[in-house]
Amino acid sequence: MVKICCIGAGYVGGPTMAVIALNCPSIEVVVVDISVTRISAWNSDQLPIYEPGLNEVVKQCKGRNLFFSTDIEKHVSEADIIFVSVNTPTKTRGLGAGKAADLTYWESAARMIADVSKSNKIVVEKSTVPVKTAEAIERILTHNSKGIKYQILSNPEFLAEGTAIQDLFKPDRVLIGGRATPDGLKAIQALKDVYAHWVPEDRIITTNLWSAELSKLAANAFLAQRISSVNAMSALCEATGADVSQVSHAVGKDSRIGPKFLNASVGFGGSCFQKDILNLVYICECNGLAEVANYWKQVIKVNDYQKNRFVNRVVSSMFNTVAGKKIGIMGFAFKKDTGDTRETPAIDVCKGLLGDKARLSIYDPQVTADQIQRDLTMNKFDWDHPIHLQPMSPTGVKQVSIAWDAYEASKDAHALCILTEWDEFKTLDYRRIFDNMQKPAFVFDGRNVVNVEMLRDIGFIVYSIGKPLDPWLKNMPAVA
Ligand code: NAI
Repeated sequence: MVKICCIGAGYVGGPTMAVIALNCPSIEVVVVDISVTRISAWNSDQLPIYEPGLNEVVKQCKGRNLFFSTDIEKHVSEADIIFVSVNTPTKTRGLGAGKAADLTYWESAARMIADVSKSNKIVVEKSTVPVKTAEAIERILTHNSKGIKYQILSNPEFLAEGTAIQDLFKPDRVLIGGRATPDGLKAIQALKDVYAHWVPEDRIITTNLWSAELSKLAANAFLAQRISSVNAMSALCEATGADVSQVSHAVGKDSRIGPKFLNASVGFGGSCFQKDILNLVYICECNGLAEVANYWKQVIKVNDYQKNRFVNRVVSSMFNTVAGKKIGIMGFAFKKDTGDTRETPAIDVCKGLLGDKARLSIYDPQVTADQIQRDLTMNKFDWDHPIHLQPMSPTGVKQVSIAWDAYEASKDAHALCILTEWDEFKTLDYRRIFDNMQKPAFVFDGRNVVNVEMLRDIGFIVYSIGKPLDPWLKNMPAVA
């Protein structure tokens, strides 16, 4: 029986391995992690991450051919194929601070593999890593090899949180990079055989190692760039009276462009886009490609601009101050259908409003109160370390309270800010909400989910990103 061990039981390791186990009953899959709480959660009925469809998949194979364990060394030593899916945060200190990937967790996993292995292994990079990481990993492994042969493969993960299970079942492509040596080709074939259990052959692409590593960074950079492009247009739409939804619909109809990832919003978030682009920028700079680095940097700059612009809209519309005013925050996760808050634009928007002394009442259907308080007090980039290595949750921010539902968050509020596109925000009883708010009652829709006309008819002053401005908002300064 082929044995797979995955190091790192997070948003990638957990769902990916669950889908492999479900589709490959003849393979034993063990997911290991240094975080005892994460592994206990995977072994309980309350999984550590929320992802539609995940529970059902895990239920079908947990205890059959899918296991979660903290006995890392045992399972690594027994495995034929080892996936490494650990954190690759942005460095906060030293060379490349604020841009380069911190490979501490990767390196310690590689050293441990070298220490405990007694048979040949295929080591698969699942984490997103800088180009040429495989070379460094190879050096660590072979330096200590004791005659054991290692083949390194790059198999970046393209799943999107919120749709991870369907993405894993029907991937657009599976990318496998490896060496073109006889042993390298054998290893590529072994990994192909795993995916071939459910992925059509023509969707499995094989490349050299460096192309596979770079393709992941490139794909995320392209996706984020589309969002920054439409968000840049949203500012121009507001200035000219165009409607960004109409513009992106018209633009997306062009088959060369396509309709996806063209929704204007308060900004992109998630654990990957910013981190991977910073990493790309750093690699360009290290290779003397300053112009290329600057080009990609702009994608992040526009994203920051968009978040600032949103905060400025809120403050300037509300008589230039939100001090002491209650603002209901609808949604905190970086997108709908996930409880993940890593780099969510809600953090910067909330911090911006708190900087102007607002009182915030935050509601999100999937994010815990503790997580929100941690996010609002944590330093930039600290979030991307294993949970037990993050700073302890400090005392919460005083002006922030967490609400059980949207109605509680909006009660007596001066304004609502919609920061995540949860479906339930489309169908709230806005009449009831209006009646319970201070007047004038504002709605700032950072995700274009509400029916603007309907809300204006109720009496709200509505700002919706990139849409023709409410008469109230015209002639007010809003640029960051
Ligand atoms: P995560 O933080 O959810 O999970 C990483 C896990 O690795 C943590 O549970 C941590 O305790 C564990 N870990 C760290 N060092 C370890 C070690 N030495 N031994 C055992 N366990 C260790 O992170 P996530 O989101 O799963 O991301 C993992 C990698 O996948 C990152 O490189 C990320 O950029 C990449 N990625 C993430 C995607 C996402 O949507 N979250 C999508 C595609 C790639």
